[in-house]
Amino acid sequence: MIQNTIIAVKTLDQIIPPIAAELQQFEAFFGQTLKAETDPMNSIMRYVLDSRGKRLRPILVLLSAKLFGEINEQTLRAATFVEMIHSATLIHDDVVDDDDQRRGHASVKAQFGNLSAVLAGDYLLAKAMLLIANDTDILNEMLQTTAAMSEGELMQLSESKDYLEIITRKTALLMRSCCVIGAMSVGAAEEQIQRISDFGLHFGQLFQMRDDILDGENIEIANELLPNHLNKTIKTLEYFPKTEILDALRDLIVFCAERIG
Ligand code: IPE
Ligand code: MG
Repeated sequence: MIQNTIIAVKTLDQIIPPIAAELQQFEAFFGQTLKAETDPMNSIMRYVLDSRGKRLRPILVLLSAKLFGEINEQTLRAATFVEMIHSATLIHDDVVDDDDQRRGHASVKAQFGNLSAVLAGDYLLAKAMLLIANDTDILNEMLQTTAAMSEGELMQLSESKDYLEIITRKTALLMRSCCVIGAMSVGAAEEQIQRISDFGLHFGQLFQMRDDILDGENIEIANELLPNHLNKTIKTLEYFPKTEILDALRDLIVFCAERIG
């Protein structure tokens, strides 16, 4: 007899306890790093801090690091780095898409104007790069990813668009890099980095499929691909040692596939 297995969907708050202390360290570091020396940039950065998102990308960095070693200062820099890149992308996106709402608040561009939003995004990108300039491997990984993301944003506009390639570039490559640099920050072996990279890529694609369904974009293809892609993503975890961090990664996959916001 075939039995249905019921997978409990946990909330993010229920998933993060194994990295709760480190996530707090990240928040402190992120807040510190966003401080600008002058106004009005500092006011914009405070506004960015006050309208926080889910912190999914730093969570991926921290979990990937802790899967293979001890979270250290370099891990926290990497986590701060990715959230800054993510914030910059969202701020720029809202200018391009002329979007006045973000995370239930006025977007930076609606609050401060287009010019300020473009400059705030540039500022975040530059400050982010400074954070990891001490590690050429991490810097190299991230520069390649940010360049590929920009290409993807433009590709979206062209006629001949391939769904998987677009969601890969616009979302999944950054999530893959989160996992890769998290693992790098604790000195993981080449094969471990390869495996967590594969997880991150699948996870990011899954995340964007769900995001499209929630946003009412590309619904048909996203709905068609998601169930099989969920299985494939869970399969990428097979190789890893059975720890509470691995459980958290699995819960995160399920959260990502089922989330409603
Ligand atoms: C939104 O990402 C942008 C996409 C890549 C779809 P998130 O949903 O992770 O954004 P926040 O940080 O939680 O607001
Ligand atoms: Mg979202």
